[in-house]
Amino acid sequence: MSLQEITPRIWMLPGDSYTDRPNLYYILGDECSLAVDAGASPAHVKDFYRAVEQKGFPLPGITVITHWHWDHTFGLCAVEGETLASEAACAQLQAVQRWAWDRPAMHRRELTGQDIAFCNMCIMREYGADLSKIQVAMPQRAVTRPETLDLGGITAHLLPVPSPHSEDQLSVYIPEEKTLLVGDGNCKDVYGHQGMYEEESLQRWIAFLEGIDHVHHLEGHGDPLTGEENLEDLYTELAECRRYAAQRALVREYKGSYVQKMRKYVGHAPLLMTGCAVLLENEKGELLLQKRRDNGCWSPPGGAVEMGETAENAARREVWEETGVVPGTLELAGVYTGEDRFFYYPNGDVCCYTQLVFRCRDYVGQPMQNTDEALEHRFFAPDALPDDLNPCDAENIRDWAKGTSGIVCR
Ligand SMILES: [Fe+2]
Repeated sequence: MSLQEITPRIWMLPGDSYTDRPNLYYILGDECSLAVDAGASPAHVKDFYRAVEQKGFPLPGITVITHWHWDHTFGLCAVEGETLASEAACAQLQAVQRWAWDRPAMHRRELTGQDIAFCNMCIMREYGADLSKIQVAMPQRAVTRPETLDLGGITAHLLPVPSPHSEDQLSVYIPEEKTLLVGDGNCKDVYGHQGMYEEESLQRWIAFLEGIDHVHHLEGHGDPLTGEENLEDLYTELAECRRYAAQRALVREYKGSYVQKMRKYVGHAPLLMTGCAVLLENEKGELLLQKRRDNGCWSPPGGAVEMGETAENAARREVWEETGVVPGTLELAGVYTGEDRFFYYPNGDVCCYTQLVFRCRDYVGQPMQNTDEALEHRFFAPDALPDDLNPCDAENIRDWAKGTSGIVCR
């Protein structure tokens, strides 16, 4: 792999999506040259230096780290010359130095959210089986405020400004070449905010980029863009982020209280709702039913899908809340609609349900008895069902008892 020219002074070694190696950049000064990011491993550094030497350029005297993530920093132990990173990146790397590198430790970090599965998978690809080769080295100097490095005939402005991707972001601006190097600054926060952009930090980042006169926008993972192209992409992301934030606000407002809020407007009038029910079978092929407290009829566990909730999560939640059992695999057994789906509550409220029915044959735990919603939980064989089935569920229970296969849709 050889260096690709961005400008006569700025060169790029393209990354590798299989191992998630980022692009590494080389800035050619008359007195000193600069590298942006150390890369994923000593092998990555070696490939970079080989490519620099092939061009007849001197090795970089300074390496700047854009942020702490492994793919940009684990090469530090093999880097020659001075190494710099933001203060926050140094603090983060100090913590990473204490991490153990074996599969159980990596898995534990995935579970606690310290690390993510994608990174661990790429680390395994980069290092192979021998994870003991991983050495996390510290940058030699922390950059605490904006500073300018004179490389001879060209300057590098180091700008510690948090990005949506990482709080410890250190960007590099080369004014003579109208070039901005941001590492992964543009990316979503893979460690926080559920992997989404956070509106405020994206807005601040856009304002930062708008304030820098640059033609070349260079990223850690992705092709070079013009500054304008990049901003256009980010404006679209910001609009999407605002739409998503508005949606989240609606979910927060209505989740768990949608029906009560609607009742204030419509009284007892029928509400069209989505419901879910789970046909939970024991190892004898018997079906779990609960004797409902509200109408004394037998029904499978289930209930209404909440605002913003997936049907599957609703089904799992209802089974857990109503029976104390943790369901395993849920298979869609049927979608039941029509006039038989009206439910009349004792207080006079009426709902008409589109009922999504799941089948579940593996579960953990034993059903509770005498709960808020049910007087009793009991398993029934297909040929010994009780007579007083809940009207809303009778059809799907009978379909189950007949051994109907496939997904029923009525
Ligand atoms: Fe990153």
